[in-house]
Amino acid sequence: MKRPILIHPDPRLKKVCDPVNDLTDELRVLADDMLETMYDAPGIGLAAPQVGVLSRLIVVDCIKEEGEEPRPLVMFNPEIVASSDEKNVYEEGCLSIPDQFAEVTRPKAVDVSWIDRDGKFQKETFDGLWATCVQHEIDHLNGKLFIDYLGAMKRQMITRRMVKLKREKARV
Ligand code: NI
Repeated sequence: MKRPILIHPDPRLKKVCDPVNDLTDELRVLADDMLETMYDAPGIGLAAPQVGVLSRLIVVDCIKEEGEEPRPLVMFNPEIVASSDEKNVYEEGCLSIPDQFAEVTRPKAVDVSWIDRDGKFQKETFDGLWATCVQHEIDHLNGKLFIDYLGAMKRQMITRRMVKLKREKARV
């Protein structure tokens, strides 16, 4: 089932999320719903706070080429355990900040650990777009948005646009 995505500014997008201690069926349903919501948007990553749930859960799939097998990843309690010194710049966007994009510099590669949908511990090195996406989504779990990496002027400009967008949506 698709879930509504919160639009910035929203206090729930600024919160540090709680670790998942008990992998319940409810959380698995949430993960499946988040994947459905992400693919439908369409997007390449989604974090639980973006659908109003303050738990440490993200979903990602950075396969974008037509005909390539999708790779949906469900990550509970994802953690960056190591980052490369080498940096990478990507133009980032966010489903909670629709139609706004800006370049963000982040480590090019990261080692990430997490608990998968079956409750198994996983660890993997991500590079390129995958690395950027996983870092962006983990930021969400700490109440951080990609616009927080921008200068104050740019951030305020984007936030004003979003306030206006939400006002327009509320009127419909
Ligand atoms: Ni985002």
